[in-house]
Amino acid sequence: MDRLLVTGGARLSGAVRISGAKNSALKLMAASLLAPGRTVLENVPRIQDCRTMGEVLEHLGAEVSWAGGSVTIDAERIGPPEAPYELVRRMRASILVLGPLLARVGRARVAMPGGCNIGSRSIDLHVRGLERMGARFAFEHGFLEAEARELRGALITLDFPSVGATENILMAAVAARGTTVIENAAREPEIVDLASFLVEMGARIGGAGTTTIVVDGVDSFRPVRHRVIPDRIEAGTFAIAACATRGSVVLEGARPDHLELVLSKLAEAGADVLVTEAGISVGIEGRPRAVDFVTLPYPGFPTDLQPQMMALLATAEGTSIATENVFESRFMFVDELRRMGADVRTEGHHAVIRGVERLQAAPVRALDIRAGAAMTIAALAAEGVTEVADMYHVDRGYEDFELKLAALGAEVRRERLPSPVPS
Ligand code: EPZ
Repeated sequence: MDRLLVTGGARLSGAVRISGAKNSALKLMAASLLAPGRTVLENVPRIQDCRTMGEVLEHLGAEVSWAGGSVTIDAERIGPPEAPYELVRRMRASILVLGPLLARVGRARVAMPGGCNIGSRSIDLHVRGLERMGARFAFEHGFLEAEARELRGALITLDFPSVGATENILMAAVAARGTTVIENAAREPEIVDLASFLVEMGARIGGAGTTTIVVDGVDSFRPVRHRVIPDRIEAGTFAIAACATRGSVVLEGARPDHLELVLSKLAEAGADVLVTEAGISVGIEGRPRAVDFVTLPYPGFPTDLQPQMMALLATAEGTSIATENVFESRFMFVDELRRMGADVRTEGHHAVIRGVERLQAAPVRALDIRAGAAMTIAALAAEGVTEVADMYHVDRGYEDFELKLAALGAEVRRERLPSPVPS
């Protein structure tokens, strides 16, 4: 139950090394279940969610070992294909073992993921897509029971370009008999990274990164070594933090092609953006200008940077309008922002942000991974010392978050608090 004490006012400057992408690494770890033998993933962020996925894989019978920024997963033998509730409730991405297990052993028993602070997070698109390939599902006592004596290629059109549904369906389709076409597929860079990993293992996939992915099933997969792409959401978080503190930061290892709309929005707000050999340099001299932005599936503005962008615009010159189209309740953190003096009014999917001169320090909480990062950004720009509680949310998704901020000149200190005695 740690909290972060943030003394506002320091302008961030210097270079930050961007870690491997959480939202790719988790899926690559799940996909390693397809290949008997030792898969090695490099550039895996040392964050709680990756450790949790490692525990899920061990629970399924794989051997998982960590060395620095790499993880080795030996999936020679798979035990009972069950992902238990206490692991799934900690991380809903555990549901992504469903596709690989159906492909490898023809059945799976996965606890239903709960909702979380940003919305209902249903998995109906995952289930319907896998049913199209011949999987049968039953829901009993909070568990999803799935079985597929044989997966068959199918035409699957997603109602919404869901990242997780695209990934679960893709990890099953690579082993299905025949050809699968996924229409209205998600186009995120993490999908492309997963597809290239699967192809290295022997899968036959075309169209990853477009709205139509075509898969010809194959019978077997070989374990490989693969390097995870850099985390575009971590990079965007630090770019926004640089602007919120009127500083300038070099994002080492970040891929500009994964951040086009984010960088152009920051430029619209007055930031100087420069792509160099070392990485992406993002900085701003004076007060940012208000900008409107709309979150959409990739290549639209990422919903995972919406809270951070709101924190920046809270002290911009003028009034901004933010529209959240991906999750139905991703404005929960606005109340925390208001405690710091932000002038934000939400109406359904829209938020109207009237920029104020400066925010004031106040005790606030991290409600989820990205809201926690947003509150830290707000605190960096605020007057005084802000306490951001429940930092375990941030630790799920950011590697060495406050160490990286401190290396950029931020005045941050983590306080370990005793866990509350269960009442
Ligand atoms: C992934 O979640 C990411 N998580 C999320 O990042 C990210 O916000 C999201 O994609 C959108 O980009 C991981 O990759 C581990 P979706 P996912 O399926 O796959 C609805 C972070 O902070 N939906 O694209 O769960 C759903 O309710 C996290 O790193 C259905 O209705 O996202 C939501 O409104 C937060 N039925 C929308 O689609 C389904 O079967 C987007 O969900 C599936 C999804």
